[in-house]
Amino acid sequence: MGIFFTTFQGPLLVYCLLLCCLVNELHCLTSDGEALVNFRTSIISSDGLLRQWRPEDPDPCGWKGVTCDSKTKRVVYLNLSNHKLSGPVSPDIGKLDRLRFLDLHYNNFYGAIPPELGNCTELQGLFLQNNYFSGSIPTEIGNLSKLQTLDISSNSLSGSIPTSLVYLNNLSIFNVSNNFLAGPIPSDGVLDQFEANSFLGNRGLCGTHISQSCKNDGGATGSHPTGSQSVKKNSGRLLISASATVGALLLVALMCFWGCFLYKKFGKNDVKGLAVDVSGGASIVMFHGDLPYSSKDILKKMEPLNEEHVIGAGGFGTVYKLAMDDGNVFALKRIVKLNEGFDRFFERELEILGSIKHRYLVNLRGYCNSPTSKLLIYDYLSGGSLDEALHEKAELLDWDARLNIIMGAAKGLAYLHHDCSPRIIHRDIKSSNILLDGNFEARVSDFGLAKLLEDEESHITTIVAGTFGYLAPEYMQSGRATEKTDIYSFGVLVLEVISGKRPTDASYIEKGLNIVGWLNYLITEDRQREIIDVNCAGVESATLDAVLSLAIQCVSSTPEERPTMHRVVQTLESEIMTPCPSDFYDSSSD
Ligand SMILES: Nc1ncnc2c1ncn2[C@@H]1O[C@H](COP(=O)(O)OP(=O)(O)OP(=O)(O)O)[C@@H](O)[C@H]1O
Ligand SMILES: *[C@@H]1O[C@H](CO)[C@@H](O)[C@H](O)[C@H]1NC(C)=O
Ligand SMILES: *[C@@H]1O[C@H](CO)[C@@H](O)[C@H](O)[C@H]1NC(C)=O
Ligand SMILES: *[C@@H]1O[C@H](CO)[C@@H](O)[C@H](O)[C@H]1NC(C)=O
Ligand SMILES: *[C@@H]1O[C@H](CO)[C@@H](O)[C@H](O)[C@H]1NC(C)=O
Ligand SMILES: *[C@@H]1O[C@H](CO)[C@@H](O)[C@H](O)[C@H]1NC(C)=O
Ligand SMILES: [Mg+2]
Repeated sequence: MGIFFTTFQGPLLVYCLLLCCLVNELHCLTSDGEALVNFRTSIISSDGLLRQWRPEDPDPCGWKGVTCDSKTKRVVYLNLSNHKLSGPVSPDIGKLDRLRFLDLHYNNFYGAIPPELGNCTELQGLFLQNNYFSGSIPTEIGNLSKLQTLDISSNSLSGSIPTSLVYLNNLSIFNVSNNFLAGPIPSDGVLDQFEANSFLGNRGLCGTHISQSCKNDGGATGSHPTGSQSVKKNSGRLLISASATVGALLLVALMCFWGCFLYKKFGKNDVKGLAVDVSGGASIVMFHGDLPYSSKDILKKMEPLNEEHVIGAGGFGTVYKLAMDDGNVFALKRIVKLNEGFDRFFERELEILGSIKHRYLVNLRGYCNSPTSKLLIYDYLSGGSLDEALHEKAELLDWDARLNIIMGAAKGLAYLHHDCSPRIIHRDIKSSNILLDGNFEARVSDFGLAKLLEDEESHITTIVAGTFGYLAPEYMQSGRATEKTDIYSFGVLVLEVISGKRPTDASYIEKGLNIVGWLNYLITEDRQREIIDVNCAGVESATLDAVLSLAIQCVSSTPEERPTMHRVVQTLESEIMTPCPSDFYDSSSD
């Protein structure tokens, strides 16, 4: 009997315990604790700090970074600065409505600042600086009437400063520097006491604080050079740090944005494939008269395309592989719904792009005009993008192949800058826009598109996104693309190719730099050769130095010091691609 009971009791006890644990978890942890558990759930990585937050505790008061009121056990302090936390901030933060200090600075948080923070009306200090927060500053922050410190500097925030902030009467420290804020700084309130160094490094802000007059029409568009003096004063140091930190972030923020974008695309629209676009009033325009297909042929091939045929997606849309019956293959870039009335302009520009043909450029063959989208037809390049080759199959690219790719890209870009009419600024030079054919010969793609889609606001963001590490400092400051901004991007590309690392590789971000910042640091220590990919060891140092010196000129922070693309091609041909005299001696003496 006794034995019977005990054997039965065993499992029962376990079940009971399990049940109790579950109940415990659901009911015993305080609501603040639950909010923090949810907060942790949305964080995707950290240095391990949050592992010690145990949901089975009765309250979160002993958790690292958390401080509670000793009587009420409500969380009053949350200090998680500098713990490599990455992810969005959960809206559950709004449930910590006794919170007095929230310090998340110097992490990798991205996404929006949750408007639910406006619920935490006891907040006296809000430290969110040095993260990758994007989107606009929530108006609800203006509800935090006890706020004394608001530091949201060095993020990727955009939009204008909400006027609700003028009601933060107790504010004594305020910093929105190094973001992408624009528009007038709200006046006649508490913000009037802050000086220019609370607003540094925002391209579009205006107001008396920063001696940048606002246009009377109240437009948030302005980056007028009225205050160029103050801009100049700061530009040196600021630009470098801005381009490094802010740059890096945007990338992260954008990847998130991009994820959403892709999700949206694949998740919904594209399920039906291109049939939606192509059926009903679509027509084909071909530029070079050398392709033996009728409009009908092409439309017939486009119609069945769906997500199975997707070969990539970027800032402008999705790219499909289009195979014709005769074995020819094309890449079809789908750009969704442009502004009404934009079509005519767009078509004229496409006509120009279609007329450009060059060995080192990806041909635009034609396009399909449909009521819902534009489908651009490009030559298909079987080697894919340099980005993939470099970062996913680096072992395929030896030093000579890399030099050859640099050479091809330089020639393609030089053609756009100097030899075609009208001259074209690419605006989006980066490794994903250098495509490779089956022999690893480079071709420049997507030239002219950035300008074409500039009016489409959403596209602007994405351009900036993918391109971030490649942008010249003056471009980030002014938003104006020139040949010199392309050359800077080309210099970054060269560094990427020879280092094998993305311009905003995590190892640079950790040092608060990007690839150019890292290079500049190495130069001060006379160690610039260390930037080379270890896979490229054994390269002759004269060649290496020549490539480095060229790249260094291209990424000069002073546009005037950058060479022209013609000069770049010349230098590559004369100093880098030709065998050195020593090679001749060696081979002849042997
Ligand atoms: N003509 C092509 N031939 C082969 N693959 C292509 C071609 N065009 C694009 N792709 C593939 O599709 C991917 C996405 O290209 P897409 O141009 O849309 O985005 P991106 O280059 O990353 O960014 P952006 O929109 O700024 O150009 C590329 O990385 C490449 O792998
Ligand atoms: C948070 O912690 C860091 C490091 O311990 C400290 O420097 C910082 O002042 C703290 N923040 C607040 C608001 O107390
Ligand atoms: C805001 O605070 C109240 C309590 O003051 C709480 O009940 C509510 O859930 C909070 N709202 C959000 C969105 O967190
Ligand atoms: C908080 O801010 C929002 C938007 O600014 C406002 O509509 C709301 O009334 C405010 N709530 C409180 C409690 O002040
Ligand atoms: C500002 O702070 C003072 C004292 O620090 C306090 O008396 C006052 O109520 C605060 N004002 C607001 C709007 O919270
Ligand atoms: C604001 O932050 C920036 C960047 O960190 C810094 O350079 C500036 O001095 C800060 N301004 C104030 C008023 O603290
Ligand atoms: Mg591209």
